Amino acid sequence: MEKTFLMVKPDGVQRNLIGEIVARFEKKGFQLVGAKLMSIPVELAEKHYGEHKERPFFGELVDFITSGPVFAMVWQGENVIATARQMMGSTNPKDAAPGTIRGDFGLTVGKNVIHGSDSPASAEREIGLFFKESELVDYSKLINDWIY
Ligand code: PPS
Repeated sequence: MEKTFLMVKPDGVQRNLIGEIVARFEKKGFQLVGAKLMSIPVELAEKHYGEHKERPFFGELVDFITSGPVFAMVWQGENVIATARQMMGSTNPKDAAPGTIRGDFGLTVGKNVIHGSDSPASAEREIGLFFKESELVDYSKLINDWIY
């Protein structure tokens, strides 16, 4: 089953949007397989955003993501990587369509509420940076014969 890494950024946590955001992915039908409220150490932030190291906003990005708690999650489902990106909307909230998370709640390109992996390779890398295998749950043995 495809997995992706999603994270409510410090602005989303500060604005009490964790429940709203989790509800959107639950209602869509994706499964939450891991989650934690955490403060990101600077070294982890620099690794996570490593591909943007040369960009002028790198320092600002690291300062922001380490400025307060984030809610890190792993979700699974068919095409979850691309579908979650669609549900998040464009990186810059001014371009994000209404109905998307950033379109509805985002303020600026930096304070855009949510991060999501953009490819299978980045999903694998980011899940590995934030979660141990033992922190992800397995739904495959659930007993379903009582539900109708
Ligand atoms: S994308 O989606 O990767 O193509 O977006 P990109 O424009 O490359 O931006 C990558 C991440 O950097 C954040 N960003 C900024 N932060 C602060 N200031 C400025 N000017 C800025 N521009 C972009 C943007 O929110 C992306 O964060 P993530 O967490 O990857 O969505």
